[in-house]
Amino acid sequence: MRIAGIINNERRERMHILSAEQFSPAQIEKIFKRADYFKKNSSTLPGRKKISTIHQGRQLASLFFQPSTRTRLSFETAAVKLGMGLISTENARENSSSTKGESIEDTFRILDGYGYDIIATRHFEVGAAARAAAVCETPIINAGDGKGEHPTQSLLDAYTIYKSHGRLQGLTVVFGGDLRYGRTVRSLSRILSKYKNNHLIFISIPELQVNDDIKGFLASSGTTFEETASVAAALKKADVVYWTRLQAEYLANPSTIPKGFTLNKRLIKNMKEDAIIMHPLPRVDEIDPDVDDDPRAAYFRQAANGLYVRMALLDLVLSEKL
Ligand code: CP
Repeated sequence: MRIAGIINNERRERMHILSAEQFSPAQIEKIFKRADYFKKNSSTLPGRKKISTIHQGRQLASLFFQPSTRTRLSFETAAVKLGMGLISTENARENSSSTKGESIEDTFRILDGYGYDIIATRHFEVGAAARAAAVCETPIINAGDGKGEHPTQSLLDAYTIYKSHGRLQGLTVVFGGDLRYGRTVRSLSRILSKYKNNHLIFISIPELQVNDDIKGFLASSGTTFEETASVAAALKKADVVYWTRLQAEYLANPSTIPKGFTLNKRLIKNMKEDAIIMHPLPRVDEIDPDVDDDPRAAYFRQAANGLYVRMALLDLVLSEKL
Protein backbone atom coordinates (compact mmCIF):
# COMPACT_ATOMS: atom_id res chain seq x y z
CA MET A 1 0.00 0.00 0.00
CA ARG A 2 1.38 3.42 -0.93
CA ILE A 3 0.44 6.83 0.41
CA ALA A 4 1.42 10.21 -0.93
CA GLY A 5 3.06 12.72 1.37
CA ILE A 6 5.30 15.79 1.39
CA ILE A 7 8.79 14.65 2.29
CA ASN A 8 11.66 17.18 2.27
CA ASN A 9 9.42 19.55 0.32
CA GLU A 10 8.85 16.94 -2.39
CA ARG A 11 5.62 15.09 -3.00
CA ARG A 12 6.58 11.42 -2.67
CA GLU A 13 4.90 8.10 -2.06
CA ARG A 14 5.89 5.95 0.89
CA MET A 15 5.15 2.28 1.14
CA HIS A 16 3.48 0.60 4.09
CA ILE A 17 3.74 -3.19 4.44
CA LEU A 18 0.34 -4.31 5.70
CA SER A 19 -0.68 -7.50 3.88
CA ALA A 20 0.91 -10.29 1.84
CA GLU A 21 -1.73 -9.46 -0.73
CA GLN A 22 0.01 -6.23 -1.74
CA PHE A 23 3.10 -7.88 -3.26
CA SER A 24 3.38 -8.74 -6.94
CA PRO A 25 5.63 -11.62 -8.09
CA ALA A 26 8.02 -8.99 -9.52
CA GLN A 27 8.31 -7.29 -6.12
CA ILE A 28 8.77 -10.65 -4.40
CA GLU A 29 11.62 -11.46 -6.79
CA LYS A 30 13.22 -8.09 -6.03
CA ILE A 31 13.02 -8.79 -2.27
CA PHE A 32 14.59 -12.25 -2.77
CA LYS A 33 17.49 -10.82 -4.81
CA ARG A 34 18.19 -8.19 -2.19
CA ALA A 35 17.96 -10.81 0.60
CA ASP A 36 20.53 -12.89 -1.31
CA TYR A 37 22.79 -9.85 -1.44
CA PHE A 38 22.54 -9.26 2.30
CA LYS A 39 23.01 -12.94 3.11
CA LYS A 40 26.15 -13.14 0.97
CA ASN A 41 27.68 -9.94 2.31
CA SER A 42 26.84 -10.76 5.94
CA SER A 43 29.23 -13.72 5.82
CA THR A 44 32.44 -11.63 5.69
CA LEU A 45 33.68 -8.71 7.78
CA PRO A 46 34.33 -6.46 4.75
CA GLY A 47 30.80 -7.28 3.54
CA ARG A 48 29.31 -6.45 6.93
CA LYS A 49 31.21 -3.17 7.04
CA LYS A 50 29.93 -2.25 3.58
CA ILE A 51 26.33 -3.03 4.56
CA SER A 52 26.65 -1.11 7.81
CA THR A 53 26.91 2.22 6.01
CA ILE A 54 23.88 1.81 3.74
CA HIS A 55 21.28 3.42 6.00
CA GLN A 56 23.44 5.30 8.49
CA GLY A 57 21.55 8.17 10.06
CA ARG A 58 18.14 6.54 9.67
CA GLN A 59 16.04 5.15 12.50
CA LEU A 60 13.68 2.24 13.04
CA ALA A 61 11.07 2.39 15.80
CA SER A 62 9.86 -1.02 16.93
CA LEU A 63 6.62 -1.11 18.90
CA PHE A 64 5.37 -4.59 19.84
CA PHE A 65 2.11 -5.01 21.77
CA GLN A 66 2.42 -8.82 21.65
CA PRO A 67 5.40 -11.04 22.56
CA SER A 68 7.93 -11.91 19.87
CA THR A 69 11.38 -13.45 19.63
CA ARG A 70 12.04 -13.80 15.90
CA THR A 71 10.16 -10.92 14.33
CA ARG A 72 11.19 -8.20 16.75
CA LEU A 73 14.81 -9.26 17.15
CA SER A 74 15.34 -9.91 13.44
CA PHE A 75 13.88 -6.50 12.50
CA GLU A 76 15.99 -4.79 15.14
CA THR A 77 19.11 -6.74 14.14
CA ALA A 78 18.43 -5.97 10.48
CA ALA A 79 18.24 -2.25 11.28
CA VAL A 80 21.47 -2.29 13.27
CA LYS A 81 23.29 -4.26 10.55
CA LEU A 82 22.19 -1.64 8.01
CA GLY A 83 23.68 1.10 10.19
CA MET A 84 20.36 2.43 11.47
CA GLY A 85 19.54 3.70 14.92
CA LEU A 86 16.91 1.80 16.87
CA ILE A 87 14.17 2.85 19.29
CA SER A 88 12.36 -0.12 20.77
CA THR A 89 9.65 -0.96 23.28
CA GLU A 90 9.83 -4.48 24.62
CA ASN A 91 6.23 -4.75 25.77
CA ALA A 92 4.13 -1.88 24.44
CA ARG A 93 0.90 -3.48 25.68
CA GLU A 94 1.99 -2.92 29.28
CA ASN A 95 4.60 -0.19 29.06
CA SER A 96 3.08 2.30 26.62
CA SER A 97 0.23 4.72 27.27
CA SER A 98 -2.17 2.35 25.53
CA THR A 99 -2.66 0.95 29.07
CA LYS A 100 -4.19 4.34 29.94
CA GLY A 101 -6.60 4.00 27.03
CA GLU A 102 -4.71 5.88 24.30
CA SER A 103 -5.99 4.89 20.86
CA ILE A 104 -3.90 3.25 18.15
CA GLU A 105 -4.36 6.37 16.01
CA ASP A 106 -3.13 8.78 18.69
CA THR A 107 -0.15 6.55 19.56
CA PHE A 108 1.02 6.42 15.95
CA ARG A 109 0.34 10.11 15.27
CA ILE A 110 2.79 10.81 18.07
CA LEU A 111 5.41 8.44 16.64
CA ASP A 112 4.91 9.98 13.20
CA GLY A 113 5.94 13.31 14.68
CA TYR A 114 9.26 11.95 15.95
CA GLY A 115 10.72 11.60 12.47
CA TYR A 116 11.48 7.89 12.34
CA ASP A 117 12.21 6.50 8.90
CA ILE A 118 10.20 3.33 9.44
CA ILE A 119 8.05 1.79 12.19
CA ALA A 120 7.59 -1.97 12.73
CA THR A 121 4.64 -2.89 14.91
CA ARG A 122 2.85 -5.99 16.18
CA HIS A 123 -0.56 -5.68 17.78
CA PHE A 124 -3.19 -8.01 19.18
CA GLU A 125 -6.02 -6.41 17.14
CA VAL A 126 -6.72 -7.32 13.50
CA GLY A 127 -6.22 -4.23 11.34
CA ALA A 128 -4.11 -2.32 13.90
CA ALA A 129 -1.20 -1.75 11.47
CA ALA A 130 -3.61 -0.48 8.80
CA ARG A 131 -5.11 1.95 11.32
CA ALA A 132 -1.59 3.16 12.16
CA ALA A 133 -0.76 3.54 8.46
CA ALA A 134 -3.90 5.59 7.90
CA VAL A 135 -2.55 8.36 10.17
CA CYS A 136 1.20 8.07 9.47
CA GLU A 137 3.47 9.31 6.72
CA THR A 138 6.22 7.15 8.20
CA PRO A 139 6.14 3.71 6.53
CA ILE A 140 4.47 1.16 8.81
CA ILE A 141 5.40 -2.52 8.76
CA ASN A 142 2.79 -4.96 10.02
CA ALA A 143 4.78 -7.41 12.15
CA GLY A 144 1.59 -9.36 12.94
CA ASP A 145 -1.92 -8.10 13.71
CA GLY A 146 -3.97 -10.42 15.90
CA LYS A 147 -5.57 -13.21 13.88
CA GLY A 148 -5.11 -11.16 10.70
CA GLU A 149 -1.83 -11.27 8.82
CA HIS A 150 1.93 -11.61 9.16
CA PRO A 151 3.16 -10.41 5.77
CA THR A 152 6.90 -10.30 6.48
CA GLN A 153 6.75 -13.88 7.79
CA SER A 154 5.11 -14.99 4.54
CA LEU A 155 7.94 -13.38 2.55
CA LEU A 156 10.61 -15.21 4.52
CA ASP A 157 8.56 -18.41 4.21
CA ALA A 158 8.33 -17.95 0.44
CA TYR A 159 12.07 -17.19 0.28
CA THR A 160 12.80 -20.45 2.15
CA ILE A 161 10.59 -22.42 -0.24
CA TYR A 162 12.24 -20.74 -3.24
CA LYS A 163 15.74 -21.48 -1.96
CA SER A 164 14.82 -25.17 -1.52
CA HIS A 165 12.73 -25.82 -4.62
CA GLY A 166 13.89 -23.07 -7.02
CA ARG A 167 10.28 -22.07 -7.70
CA LEU A 168 7.08 -20.89 -6.06
CA GLN A 169 4.73 -22.58 -8.52
CA GLY A 170 3.65 -26.15 -9.18
CA LEU A 171 4.00 -27.08 -5.51
CA THR A 172 1.87 -29.20 -3.21
CA VAL A 173 1.89 -27.43 0.14
CA VAL A 174 0.42 -29.09 3.21
CA PHE A 175 -0.67 -26.75 6.01
CA GLY A 176 -1.34 -28.28 9.42
CA GLY A 177 -2.39 -26.97 12.81
CA ASP A 178 -4.45 -23.90 13.65
CA LEU A 179 -5.49 -22.72 10.20
CA ARG A 180 -8.34 -20.53 11.42
CA TYR A 181 -6.48 -18.18 13.74
CA GLY A 182 -2.87 -18.67 12.61
CA ARG A 183 -1.89 -15.49 10.74
CA THR A 184 1.22 -17.03 9.14
CA VAL A 185 -0.89 -19.57 7.24
CA ARG A 186 -3.27 -16.84 6.12
CA SER A 187 -0.45 -14.69 4.72
CA LEU A 188 1.52 -17.52 3.07
CA SER A 189 -1.66 -18.80 1.39
CA ARG A 190 -2.04 -15.33 -0.14
CA ILE A 191 1.53 -15.39 -1.49
CA LEU A 192 1.17 -18.92 -2.93
CA SER A 193 -2.10 -17.99 -4.64
CA LYS A 194 -0.14 -15.53 -6.82
CA TYR A 195 1.71 -18.39 -8.55
CA LYS A 196 0.39 -21.00 -10.95
CA ASN A 197 -0.47 -24.64 -10.28
CA ASN A 198 0.01 -24.71 -6.53
CA HIS A 199 -2.19 -27.16 -4.64
CA LEU A 200 -2.83 -26.52 -0.93
CA ILE A 201 -3.86 -29.26 1.49
CA PHE A 202 -5.24 -28.12 4.83
CA ILE A 203 -5.19 -30.46 7.83
CA SER A 204 -6.83 -29.50 11.07
CA ILE A 205 -9.63 -30.28 13.46
CA PRO A 206 -13.03 -28.91 12.35
CA GLU A 207 -12.94 -25.96 14.81
CA LEU A 208 -9.58 -24.75 13.46
CA GLN A 209 -10.00 -25.22 9.70
CA VAL A 210 -9.30 -22.34 7.29
CA ASN A 211 -11.82 -19.54 7.11
CA ASP A 212 -14.04 -18.82 4.13
CA ASP A 213 -12.10 -15.66 3.26
CA ILE A 214 -9.00 -17.77 2.51
CA LYS A 215 -11.05 -20.29 0.54
CA GLY A 216 -12.59 -17.38 -1.36
CA PHE A 217 -9.33 -15.82 -2.55
CA LEU A 218 -7.84 -19.24 -3.35
CA ALA A 219 -10.87 -20.02 -5.50
CA SER A 220 -10.76 -16.63 -7.20
CA SER A 221 -7.06 -17.00 -8.01
CA GLY A 222 -7.58 -20.53 -9.38
CA THR A 223 -5.48 -22.14 -6.64
CA THR A 224 -6.79 -25.62 -5.87
CA PHE A 225 -7.12 -26.83 -2.29
CA GLU A 226 -8.58 -29.63 -0.21
CA GLU A 227 -9.30 -30.19 3.47
CA THR A 228 -8.48 -33.51 5.07
CA ALA A 229 -7.93 -35.21 8.40
CA SER A 230 -5.52 -37.77 6.97
CA VAL A 231 -2.06 -36.59 8.02
CA ALA A 232 -0.01 -39.51 6.65
CA ALA A 233 -1.58 -39.44 3.16
CA ALA A 234 -1.12 -35.65 2.87
CA LEU A 235 2.52 -35.75 3.98
CA LYS A 236 3.31 -38.29 1.27
CA LYS A 237 2.19 -35.86 -1.46
CA ALA A 238 3.86 -32.74 -0.03
CA ASP A 239 6.66 -30.67 -1.51
CA VAL A 240 6.34 -28.39 1.49
CA VAL A 241 4.87 -29.18 4.91
CA TYR A 242 4.00 -26.03 6.85
CA TRP A 243 3.20 -27.09 10.40
CA THR A 244 1.83 -24.80 13.11
CA ARG A 245 0.59 -25.07 16.66
CA LEU A 246 -2.99 -26.11 17.36
CA GLN A 247 -3.80 -23.09 19.52
CA ALA A 248 -5.80 -24.63 22.36
CA GLU A 249 -6.50 -21.17 23.79
CA TYR A 250 -9.06 -20.57 21.01
CA LEU A 251 -11.06 -23.73 21.73
CA ALA A 252 -14.06 -23.97 24.04
CA ASN A 253 -12.96 -27.52 24.82
CA PRO A 254 -9.20 -28.05 24.30
CA SER A 255 -9.52 -31.73 25.18
CA THR A 256 -11.05 -32.23 21.69
CA ILE A 257 -7.52 -31.94 20.19
CA PRO A 258 -6.74 -35.45 18.94
CA LYS A 259 -3.38 -37.19 19.14
CA GLY A 260 -1.54 -37.49 15.83
CA PHE A 261 -0.72 -33.85 15.18
CA THR A 262 2.87 -34.17 16.38
CA LEU A 263 5.29 -34.64 13.51
CA ASN A 264 7.83 -37.28 14.43
CA LYS A 265 10.34 -39.50 12.63
CA ARG A 266 7.73 -42.22 12.07
CA LEU A 267 5.17 -39.85 10.55
CA ILE A 268 7.60 -38.14 8.15
CA LYS A 269 9.20 -41.41 6.99
CA ASN A 270 7.25 -41.56 3.73
CA MET A 271 7.67 -37.90 2.77
CA LYS A 272 9.43 -37.09 -0.51
CA GLU A 273 13.21 -36.84 -0.25
CA ASP A 274 13.29 -33.25 -1.47
CA ALA A 275 10.30 -32.06 0.57
CA ILE A 276 10.85 -29.53 3.34
CA ILE A 277 9.26 -29.21 6.76
CA MET A 278 8.61 -25.63 7.83
CA HIS A 279 7.19 -24.01 10.95
CA PRO A 280 6.98 -20.28 11.75
CA LEU A 281 8.02 -21.11 15.34
CA PRO A 282 7.75 -21.07 18.27
CA ARG A 283 6.90 -24.75 18.40
CA VAL A 284 5.61 -26.33 21.56
CA ASP A 285 5.11 -30.03 21.00
CA GLU A 286 3.81 -30.26 17.42
CA ILE A 287 7.22 -31.22 15.96
CA ASP A 288 9.22 -33.74 17.91
CA PRO A 289 12.86 -32.61 18.39
CA ASP A 290 13.94 -35.92 16.84
CA VAL A 291 12.89 -34.44 13.46
CA ASP A 292 15.41 -31.58 13.82
CA ASP A 293 18.30 -33.61 12.39
CA ASP A 294 16.34 -34.72 9.33
CA PRO A 295 17.70 -32.94 6.22
CA ARG A 296 14.12 -32.00 5.33
CA ALA A 297 13.68 -30.00 8.56
CA ALA A 298 13.90 -26.40 7.34
CA TYR A 299 12.44 -24.44 10.26
CA PHE A 300 15.69 -23.15 11.76
CA ARG A 301 17.09 -21.98 8.43
CA GLN A 302 13.63 -20.50 7.71
CA ALA A 303 13.93 -18.41 10.90
CA ALA A 304 17.50 -17.39 9.97
CA ASN A 305 16.29 -16.29 6.52
CA GLY A 306 13.99 -13.85 8.33
CA LEU A 307 16.95 -11.61 9.08
CA TYR A 308 17.98 -11.26 5.41
CA VAL A 309 14.45 -10.84 4.12
CA ARG A 310 13.80 -8.13 6.71
CA MET A 311 17.08 -6.40 5.83
CA ALA A 312 15.90 -6.46 2.21
CA LEU A 313 12.50 -5.04 3.15
CA LEU A 314 13.93 -2.23 5.25
CA ASP A 315 16.42 -1.40 2.51
CA LEU A 316 13.90 -1.46 -0.33
CA VAL A 317 11.28 0.57 1.53
CA LEU A 318 13.84 3.16 2.69
CA SER A 319 15.38 3.50 -0.75
CA GLU A 320 11.90 3.52 -2.37
CA LYS A 321 12.88 0.79 -4.80
CA LEU A 322 10.03 -1.63 -4.16
N1 CP B 1 7.30 -16.50 13.68
C1 CP B 1 7.11 -15.50 14.54
O1 CP B 1 6.35 -14.54 14.30
O2 CP B 1 7.80 -15.63 15.71
P1 CP B 1 7.80 -14.58 16.89
O3 CP B 1 6.39 -14.58 17.48
O4 CP B 1 8.83 -15.08 17.88
O5 CP B 1 8.12 -13.24 16.34
